[in-house]
Amino acid sequence: MSASMLSFCYLLSCVLFILSIRGLASPETARKGNVLGLVGMVLAIAATIASPSVAEYVWVIIAILLGGGIGTYFALKVKMTSLPQMIAAFNGMGGLSAVFISLAEILSGSDMRIENTLGLIIGAVAFSGSMIAFAKLHGLIKAKAIVFVGQQFLNLILALCSLGVCAYFVISGDIVGFYALAGLCLVLGILIVLPIGGADMPVVISILNAYSGWAGVAIGFSLNNVLLIIVGAIVGASGAILSYIMVKAMNRSLSSVMLGGFGGRHTAAASYQDDAKVAKVGSPEDAAFAMENANKVIIVPGYGMAAAQAQHILKTMGDDLHKKYGVKVMYAIHPVAGRMPGHMNVLLAEANVPYEDVFELEAINREFATADVAYVIGANDVTNPLAKTAPDSPIYGMPVLDVEKAKTVFFVKRSLNSGYSGVENPLFFADNTFMLYGDAKKVTEEIVSVLEK
Ligand code: TAP
Repeated sequence: MSASMLSFCYLLSCVLFILSIRGLASPETARKGNVLGLVGMVLAIAATIASPSVAEYVWVIIAILLGGGIGTYFALKVKMTSLPQMIAAFNGMGGLSAVFISLAEILSGSDMRIENTLGLIIGAVAFSGSMIAFAKLHGLIKAKAIVFVGQQFLNLILALCSLGVCAYFVISGDIVGFYALAGLCLVLGILIVLPIGGADMPVVISILNAYSGWAGVAIGFSLNNVLLIIVGAIVGASGAILSYIMVKAMNRSLSSVMLGGFGGRHTAAASYQDDAKVAKVGSPEDAAFAMENANKVIIVPGYGMAAAQAQHILKTMGDDLHKKYGVKVMYAIHPVAGRMPGHMNVLLAEANVPYEDVFELEAINREFATADVAYVIGANDVTNPLAKTAPDSPIYGMPVLDVEKAKTVFFVKRSLNSGYSGVENPLFFADNTFMLYGDAKKVTEEIVSVLEK
């Protein structure tokens, strides 16, 4: 393949990747976006293999079969709730590739030491950090923040040492410096992620994803490969933007996430129970009665719906209410409901909930005042009014769903325990709230069986 043909294929791939990201921005176009990304990637790989720089095919084919096989296996097998750790593991592989490519380039005599060193540093941190994120999310190590005295200081010393060794290698070209730098950065990646609580992992994964993109950019410069530079920059920039959106929607700062210590601090539900406040308890029959007699019901899904895999029965409940009882059913999605961006959208789409019934926070908040019932299923923080009223609360300033404005609110959860943020939710004790204790799927099944009688 000629050089100009190769450039043309790369350009086309980049356009396809950009269109793919655009498609992924909305559930209606996500499938199309996925296909465009797939076509772009196949084109990029085919063009690279056909390029004159590839002289030996056996290793390339072995690598494609092996990597493609492993990727396909995990993608088919992964449960929706395990997606965050799969993304963490795949990010790590991106970082590791950058490390190996830098090493291969240096060993084959490349004099682009700055580019290769950048690829090595970012890639090594992304790799080891992602492995720790994976281990935490997969329960292989404690998900809690792991902290010890002098940790920040140790990180600072390691970072300074890395800078020193980096300068030494770039100036001298001594391969020992390269290996030392790789070791230092691998340790640094581990130490950066260890003190971050498991619940903050989605943000961290998105940051590490951005790192792997920037590592790709550095490698792209060292290999003089335009495709890697552009695609790496797309991944780096979109990862950074996604991290920003997440921390903003959680009303956190990036530094507070990276320094750890949020979530899981106050696990018990709290002083409200100690104050002898009583939460009213409802039954599935009560909920079925209130909803079948309603004009408008707003369903608010959260992490507990995902954990219970209640999306399919929820869709059945919505359909029953609409078709059998003529109720207007709307689904309210908070931007950080669940544990990863778009978590609720993906699950509702999987259950074939029509997109036109699904509303984002700004659009749905004005609807609660005219709703008869808010059915809050496994959601907690995203409804907590303290975010609006308690300046000393960690969630203060986070936009929340105004479920309390509905005439009646049902909270489906197993206890009065707090959610991810550890902040108690005073809505459990509100006059118009009824708790439906139990697993989200089981409770909803019971409601459906009453509705279908
Ligand atoms: P949470 O506030 O975490 O509340 C989920 C509730 O679900 C828990 O209080 C739990 O109560 C209940 N639950 C768990 N398993 C259940 C089951 N099997 N059946 C019924 N209920 C169950 O969730 P949310 O309202 O979706 O808010 C998300 C939180 O995660 C926010 O604080 C957000 O900032 C944070 N976060 C989100 C993201 C993204 S990108 N989405 C990333 C990082 C952090 P019980 O134990 O009483 O059942």
